[in-house]
Amino acid sequence: MNLILLGAPGAGKGTQAEVISEKLGIPQISTGNILREAVKNGTPSGLKAKGYMESGALVPDEVVIGILKDRIAEGDCKKGFILDGFPRTVPQAVALENMGIGIDKVISIDVPDEKIQARLSGRRVCESCGASYHIEYKPTQTEGKCDKCGGNAVLRADDAPETVIERLKTYHDKTAPLIDFYAGKGKLVRIDGQEEVKDTSKLVLDAVSS
Ligand code: AP5
Repeated sequence: MNLILLGAPGAGKGTQAEVISEKLGIPQISTGNILREAVKNGTPSGLKAKGYMESGALVPDEVVIGILKDRIAEGDCKKGFILDGFPRTVPQAVALENMGIGIDKVISIDVPDEKIQARLSGRRVCESCGASYHIEYKPTQTEGKCDKCGGNAVLRADDAPETVIERLKTYHDKTAPLIDFYAGKGKLVRIDGQEEVKDTSKLVLDAVSS
């Protein structure tokens, strides 16, 4: 099962990818997480990506496509994978097709822009292991400390309100056209992502098995 999760920043792609990954036993591939790790480690891709990510813009297609190609070639993707944050542009979607990889379903998690700021201002991410929380909907057991590794759970740099506005603009300009792209191929399922996490998970899992 090869799946794509589409949606605005903060729509819940990462949260739902974790649920599907556990349920189906296939890996979640988050290009955002891979890029953040590359920035942290100062790799050549990380150095190229840093400025774009900080300003809320997309990292150039050729950088991300290369990263994705390498990741999909790894052994754990043989039984399938969940793409969380890729493709983000029509050229990325075309590059995926050109890799000869069939996609079974594309699930778009729809959340209006007005709700996104509240979600992202409340998100806390562990500086050490990357685990994600929300101060209201998924709080850490000890304030500011990751439940998994005890690292500091902090606001992600690009979750600052002014950067979120830029990320939303980027989403509508560059990524939202993929909704029509995949609808035209008969692959798209749209679900409402405004409900509680568990209710959204039910909609996502129903979409996967439909
Ligand atoms: P990336 O890391 O992919 O960020 P994003 O797409 O903006 O998505 P987020 O991680 O912010 O949100 P999400 O939808 O996963 O939501 P989450 O589940 O965490 O990309 C970051 C940057 O990297 C990009 O800006 C770009 O520069 C670059 N990049 C990455 N991929 C690229 C590509 N392919 N091409 C070019 N550049 C690329 O949920 C958010 C919060 O809400 C959490 O706190 C969560 O607990 C909470 N929450 C989730 N669901 C619910 C719910 N139903 N109810 C209440 N709270 C909820």
